[in-house]
Amino acid sequence: MMHFIETGEGPAVILLHAFPMDSALWAAQRRPLAHAGYRVITPDLPGFGGSAVSQDEPSLDVMADAVAELMEHLGLEAATIGGLSMGGYVTMAMLRRHRARVSGIVLADTKASADTPEAAANRRSMATAVEAAGSTVTVADAMLPNLLGATTRASRPEVVATVTRWIGAQPAEGVAWAQRAMAARLASLADIEAFGGPVLVLYGEEDTISPATDAQAMAAAARAGGSPTAVIEIPRAGHLTAVEDPDAVTRALLGWLAGH
Ligand code: MLT
Repeated sequence: MMHFIETGEGPAVILLHAFPMDSALWAAQRRPLAHAGYRVITPDLPGFGGSAVSQDEPSLDVMADAVAELMEHLGLEAATIGGLSMGGYVTMAMLRRHRARVSGIVLADTKASADTPEAAANRRSMATAVEAAGSTVTVADAMLPNLLGATTRASRPEVVATVTRWIGAQPAEGVAWAQRAMAARLASLADIEAFGGPVLVLYGEEDTISPATDAQAMAAAARAGGSPTAVIEIPRAGHLTAVEDPDAVTRALLGWLAGH
């Protein structure tokens, strides 16, 4: 069973974190969502935070199954599932494997495309390097320029320090496993189109990992499938919108949740 934090009562909202960090990513959203009348559940995905690394073959399906198992444990038949970046990939895997458990989705700073062969190869060599080093401390330096937007990097050193600490605290085996899982992920536009339920697509204006074009492609697929679809851009934020502008992300989530 994954480690998770649960707060509040009401319609369930499960928020899935990005790579390579844990559920602390959503720390700023938990309380305001709970105060607004939602049951907020933020798990540490397998291999991150307090959750053990999976012994299964690396796949986002394993993470999606872990979310479904947690829902079973919590007595939740269905919930709104929101994921940021890797959490979004897991959300898309849930559409494939556990559609009945998904009542609405938030796709934040994520994309529906699979990796190019080159990107997948990069992930696999990063996985090997992290395992050999036995630590993720150097991963933060390599990833931060992409994870955080230019505005945050220039003006919010405390966010840079926090995210650096989060990444350095993750176990090497979990990071390597997740990289291999993401390298193997499937293209998911068809799954978004087949969903039909409410969709919020959210992205940071300065996100270079999953920029506006990826957000628009997911929104177009959702609309093509008849989903009520909202798209929200978070100004002056990069890939990690939930920590770069926590209040804007909370407002976006609350506004959208209230509308369906
Ligand atoms: C993330 O933020 O979860 C990762 O950057 C996703 C990815 O590497 O594709």
